[in-house]
Amino acid sequence: MHVEATTASPPSTHADTIAIGVFEGKGVAHELPGGELGALLESGEARRTFKHLAVAHAGGKRFVLVGLGAREAFDGERARIAAAIVHGRARELGTRTLCWELPHHVDDRVVAGLVEGTLLHAYRFARYRPAADERRLEALVVSAHHDVSDIVRRAGVLTRAQNRARDLGNTPANDLTPEDLAQYASRVAGVKVTVMDGEQIREAGMGAFAAVARGSATPPRLIRLEYGGADAPAPQLALVGKAVTFDSGGLALKSASTMHEMKFDMAGGAAVIEALAAIAELELPVRLLGLVGATENLPSGTAMRAGDIVTAQDGTTIEVNNPDAEGRLVLADCLCSAVRDDAAQIVDVATLTGGVVTALGSIYAGLFANDGAWADRVRRAGDQTGELVWPLPLHPEYAAMIKGRYAQLTNRSVRREATAVTAAEFLHHFAGAKPWAHLDIAGMAWDVPRPYFADKGATGFGVRLLVELAAGLGSAL
Ligand code: BES
Ligand code: MN
Ligand code: ZN
Repeated sequence: MHVEATTASPPSTHADTIAIGVFEGKGVAHELPGGELGALLESGEARRTFKHLAVAHAGGKRFVLVGLGAREAFDGERARIAAAIVHGRARELGTRTLCWELPHHVDDRVVAGLVEGTLLHAYRFARYRPAADERRLEALVVSAHHDVSDIVRRAGVLTRAQNRARDLGNTPANDLTPEDLAQYASRVAGVKVTVMDGEQIREAGMGAFAAVARGSATPPRLIRLEYGGADAPAPQLALVGKAVTFDSGGLALKSASTMHEMKFDMAGGAAVIEALAAIAELELPVRLLGLVGATENLPSGTAMRAGDIVTAQDGTTIEVNNPDAEGRLVLADCLCSAVRDDAAQIVDVATLTGGVVTALGSIYAGLFANDGAWADRVRRAGDQTGELVWPLPLHPEYAAMIKGRYAQLTNRSVRREATAVTAAEFLHHFAGAKPWAHLDIAGMAWDVPRPYFADKGATGFGVRLLVELAAGLGSAL
């Protein structure tokens, strides 16, 4: 879908459909010569209640009136929802070009929200089931009195990146192997990509990562993405992503009822790759390192056994007491790599635990961090983009729960509680004293019941947050 901004009035654009929002207690900002919009409100057919829709025809164009509710409550998230609902109706009506009339006196988040909500709602995972006759919007125009073209362009770049992350999450594991993901990453424009294969991973001493990969005939890849080069302002943010392209649970086999969904266990890695792609496309003045650990977790005669002891790159010994707690093993070695590379700050993103889904559901991702100021920055990036994260604690007594009996650490605490927190403490061990934050996105990466995720499945969570975070670092320099 083509996306653009204009300062021309909506009726003077080439759009066949015009979307107009109305706040509670307010009238329409620009009435039509025939007074059709006010009449629709007066008759009660159009309402100011948030999400209420009504349609009018005038001057050879369609007008979709949408209630925006209270002006004070109208934020980026409500803009995404309003845009999603309008897009749904516009598509039903056969709209080809939709023009949104930007409400007066709203901030940039609302502008971006309208673009995001439209593009997210328009997304379909159509790789295996092309929808030949489906009606599609061809273009979105945002009309405002002032120039919003930069915000509209940026929101378009970000949302397309998010939708590509959704494609990656929705693609089944037979068509998205670690090697496929590495090839995909290698094609990202403006980013330098180097890939380690299974032998190189083993030879580099990444025994935890290698142990997870052992069970599969499909070899792993450690994907390293660099953006910015030597001339970009120095401190380097490292983004680390879990990309388990299929998590069967290994010898701790998951039940068949939900196992098919575990193709999305690479969502953290997808968010990292697409955030870097968007940052490169926007040419943000930052220096970034992406590390994506891609592997399958399968049971076989060569799979890691429960009780095996493996050694991570930094020499830490780990008892593998649950082969289904594989994400932290992969991330352990990726974090060692980030630390070795002397990253200034680290954020890892992972569908790490079912525990975080129990705790926070599909509203907030879990945020763990060893540095208060860094945690605040990550949280603010979440608030600003609507990809919400909520702080959960670290504590030495949680860390004590993942001490091993025969090795330094165990990948699964004997006490079956606080699994999201003990998983975070496991990662904390490898991040050490670097400013580090861990996002457990298990509840946010799949089937999130928000109106703009009309196509269920992968959500691409994290792309917008990571770009916002990186952009903030750039402007701080
Ligand atoms: N990929 C799963 C976590 C997950 C669960 C993601 C549900 C999305 C939805 C992870 O590898 C896993 O299996 N975690 C276990 C850890 C446990 C064995 C300590 C879990 O959370 O049950
Ligand atoms: Mn698992
Ligand atoms: Zn997993």
